[in-house]
Formats: sequence, C-alpha cells, structure tokens
Amino acid sequence: MKSGTESKKFFDRACKVIPGGVSSNFRYWGDDATLVVDRGEGAYLYDKDNKKYVDYRLGFGPVVLGHGRPEISKHIKEVLDKGNCFAMTNEYEIRVAEKLTKMTGTDLVRFTNTGTEATMGAMRIARAYTGRDKILKFDGAYHGFHDYSLWNTYPPTSGVGYINSPFLIPQGSGIPRSVGDLMYSLPFNNKEVLDKKLKERWHEIACIIVEPLLGNQASIMPQDGFLDFIREKCTEYGIVMIMDEVKTGFRIAPGGAQEYFHVKADIATYAKCLGNGFPVAAIAGKREIMGEVGPGKIPHGGTYGSNMISMAAAEACLDLYAAGELKKADAHGKKLKQGWKTILDKSGLAYVIQGPDSMPGIIFTNEEKCTEYKHWAQGDHDTYEKIIHYCINHGVMPDYDSREPWFISTAHTDEDADFVLGVFEDAVKFVNR
Ligand SMILES: Cc1ncc(COP(=O)(O)O)c(C=O)c1O
Repeated sequence: MKSGTESKKFFDRACKVIPGGVSSNFRYWGDDATLVVDRGEGAYLYDKDNKKYVDYRLGFGPVVLGHGRPEISKHIKEVLDKGNCFAMTNEYEIRVAEKLTKMTGTDLVRFTNTGTEATMGAMRIARAYTGRDKILKFDGAYHGFHDYSLWNTYPPTSGVGYINSPFLIPQGSGIPRSVGDLMYSLPFNNKEVLDKKLKERWHEIACIIVEPLLGNQASIMPQDGFLDFIREKCTEYGIVMIMDEVKTGFRIAPGGAQEYFHVKADIATYAKCLGNGFPVAAIAGKREIMGEVGPGKIPHGGTYGSNMISMAAAEACLDLYAAGELKKADAHGKKLKQGWKTILDKSGLAYVIQGPDSMPGIIFTNEEKCTEYKHWAQGDHDTYEKIIHYCINHGVMPDYDSREPWFISTAHTDEDADFVLGVFEDAVKFVNR
C-alpha cells in the first residue's frame, strides 16, 4: 500500500515533530503507507489526496453514528458558546448520567475522558472496595494503555508458557516488571483454568476485568456460559466483576454486552460509542460499590471529566441509541457477513467469521471455531493483511491490523455493502490467485 503525494507530504512533516508521525503507535502503517486524513462525512473518510474510503475503522470503533452526525454537532454547538470546562457539576452531566444508568441498568456513574482512564479507575475502585491488590485479566484482552492493562495483550504464543503456570509478558518496554506481580492473565473461555486459579488465589484478587468478547482479537466471542461463570465466581469469592465495554458499549446493543449476553457486571466501563468519537468515558456500576467513591473513601478525579462538550455529545448519542438507531448498523453488518461467507466459501480459504453484526471479525485459520487468543495468534495474518491492503487501495478501509474487527456505522448503506463486497471479492481473488 502506498499513500498519495499529499498524504505523504503531510506525513513527512508530521514525522519531524511527532514520534513516528502518529499520536498512537497503532496508527502507523509504514513510512510510505500511513495516510493523513482530511475529513469525514457519514460512512466515508477522505484523505489528504481527496481519496474517498468507505470507513470501517471508524476511529478504532467509536463513530457508530457516522462522521459529522448533525444531531450531535447541533447539540454541541448549543453548548459551545457557554464555555466548556468548569470542573463543576453541570446539567448536561446529570442528564447523561440519568440516561446512561437507565439504558445500561446500572446505578451510579463517574465520567472520565478515555477508556484507559475508565479501566484504570475501575481497577482502583475494585482494589479499594475489596482491600485486595491483584487484577485478573484474559490473554488477548486490551484494556487501554496503562501499566495494569498491557500484559499478555498480544504475546508470542510460545511465550505464555504451560497452561497451569503461564507467564506474563508486558506489551513493551517501560512497564515496570513489579506491576506484573499484581496481575494474572488467563486464556479466555477456559472455565477450568479460571476455576483453578480462583480456588488457589481468590483471596488476593480484587477484580476480574473482562472484555465480554475479545474486541481486540477480531471479535472472538464468549462461549456459552463463560461470562455467567465469571459472574458466579465473582459473587462466590467477593471479587468485583468489571465488564470492559469500551468497544461493545452502545454498539452491540443500547445496553451493551450486559444486555446482549444477559450478564450483569458489578462495574462496566464505557468510552468509544458513548460520544461517537468525542472524548468521553464512564465507570458505571452498582450502588454498593460506586457509592463508596468519594472524599475520604475511594479516590477518583480529573480536570476534564464531564466537560460540557463531551456531555452534550454523549447526550445526543444516547438519545439516538434510545430511538433504535443501532439496528441499522446490525443490518449492514449482517449483509457483509453473509457476503464474506459466500465469497470465502468459493475461494477455498479456511476462515472463521465471528462477532456481533455491528463489529464482525475474520480470522484465516483451520480452526472450526476461535475461542481464545491463541486461535487469533496462530491465524494467517499475512493473507488477511494482503486482502485488506487491496481493499484500502480500492477505497474500503477496515483497520489493516487483523486484530481489529470491522466497525459498522448506522451511516453505511446497502449500496456501500454492494461496493464493499465487490472490492472484497476482487481482493480475495487477487491474493488467492
Ligand atoms: C476494550 C478496550 N478497553 C479500553 C480501551 C482504551 O480506550 P482508549 O483508547 O479510549 O483509552 C480500548 C481501546 O481500544 C479497548 O478496546
């Protein structure tokens, strides 16, 4: 893949003042391939060469209502001239809290700005509430960029050791080794291994934090009963169950994964679709736990939390979700999944398509079903990336990283689906020739 001349010019300029030319390592696609965006319109984005793409990255997922959604812009403009940051409770925040708790079936919510801050805060709350220090997560799950998240996020499979005595691998340098002493990371969907660890170590564990589906591993789904098992065990051992809904919240259902999978966590974390791309996140949970957050009790703070622009964005989004908007994204995703299946069946490639309709993923693999991180890790990423390169070159842009699902928005149309499936079919033929 090669960026156009204008993108390249801007990217070279960016590289002089921004490490790698990007503000997140995940955005770097190569010196000659990293595109620079100009603008978005609904389901489309335009790069600096004015090339149009049907956008399935959607900014790593948040923009479920499409770029520049008028109802959100209008509500933000109403607020803009009043100022934004007061570090005081405001009316928008109260309304968003009322709507969010109703929609997600939670009691109390604190606002933050990013998913990273939300999961970090939720872990702190769980530790304070239980008086225990350890965090249990799952291999392949990503919970943001803080030190308690970046363990076994995408380790080499040979590096995680024997299932009964697994190793913890930090995602990179700069994460203190001592933090690993406070972490456990286990295979997703494996009740036996989880049960064994809990029997031995429950008294150390403050929380189990779980992405309800592995949204950072091509949407690997929870197997029947796995989330219920976590729920049951957390109740049995007095562990806080944190459902990290940063990717699934306000995307796979208005009530997120808790509604979709019928499982109630103690705390859920939200970000992405809560603001359709505006920076707003939330830690929402049961009164008995969240009610302990406060002066002299459990610490939580932040200058920008509940700033009025973010709250206005969130309010407009929640109103659109309440009106049933998400069904449109589901219908488009269903069409893509059916089309991929027809195309891939003809191609002879071995594959698994998985995930909810609004965030489906594809793994090229001989496995019949993908249920844990190693199934993604052992997949054929080379074929996936070649297909995606072809797609991006031809105006269809999912993320080129095979861990990212395709994010669907309510702005994608049936005509987009026909175009996208045509390009996808050509890409498969091109790569498989
Ligand atoms: C499940 C999950 N949790 C947390 C985060 C971190 O969110 P943010 O990038 O807003 O800090 C992400 C980001 O992709 C995520 O996918």
